[in-house]
Amino acid sequence: MELKNVVPWGRSFDEYRDMFLLTDADLQETILGCGDGPASFNAELAKAGGNVVSADPVYRFTADQIRSRVREVYPEIMSEVAKNPDDYIWDSIRDVEHLGQVRMEAMELFFDDYEQGKQAGRYINASLPKLPFEDKTFRLALCSHYLFLYSEHVSLEQHILSMKELCRVAHEVRVYPLVTLDGSRSQHIDPVVASLADDGIGVSFQKVRYRFQKGADEVLVLRYL
Ligand SMILES: C[S@@+](CC[C@H](N)C(=O)[O-])C[C@H]1O[C@@H](n2cnc3c(N)ncnc32)[C@H](O)[C@@H]1O
Repeated sequence: MELKNVVPWGRSFDEYRDMFLLTDADLQETILGCGDGPASFNAELAKAGGNVVSADPVYRFTADQIRSRVREVYPEIMSEVAKNPDDYIWDSIRDVEHLGQVRMEAMELFFDDYEQGKQAGRYINASLPKLPFEDKTFRLALCSHYLFLYSEHVSLEQHILSMKELCRVAHEVRVYPLVTLDGSRSQHIDPVVASLADDGIGVSFQKVRYRFQKGADEVLVLRYL
């Protein structure tokens, strides 16, 4: 992976809780965040005493390297959002400026935690579809804004292998969102679900309270039957 191909962008603990319908009981469990990048979910949950590990190929880089890449992509992302305001629901995030503030606050929490979290084994350099964990290491695996969102860049085969790998390392998997970058339902959902069902993995779609990208109102929940 080259850093110039990564778009590091981080959401907060509150956003993860709402995207993934996380209950207080869920937050007591062992949790894997796959593709967490510079999100602050890990930093905030670990600080509150949670048992959480994040896996992402961007963790092969130092904090300074990731920070400088964030500085590069920040204006590009902001201007894309500003050009397409109707693609988003401006409610808890009020406007583009507020979006930038919320994202930067989350990423600062990540940067403050990154070195000590790496030493503690909470940030692991790893890439789907192959994760360096034993079977069922985690009670819950979460994948936010990587699978399905990048359906134009990540093939159907990679999606299927990645979903099965997440189901191997965790008892339950939740993936959000189910729409692509342009807000349409991912073309990979139906074939992924069919392939998982053939492997005995139960699939359910659940409505979430999180609202930002239009059309992104469901989380996919996977469990071996
Ligand atoms: C748009 S960011 C989302 C970050 C975070 N999950 C969030 O929602 O705020 C996408 C993340 O997917 C990660 N990623 C890219 N390829 C990956 C792979 N093969 N396996 C796991 N994560 C990957 C990127 O490094 C990046 O951190």
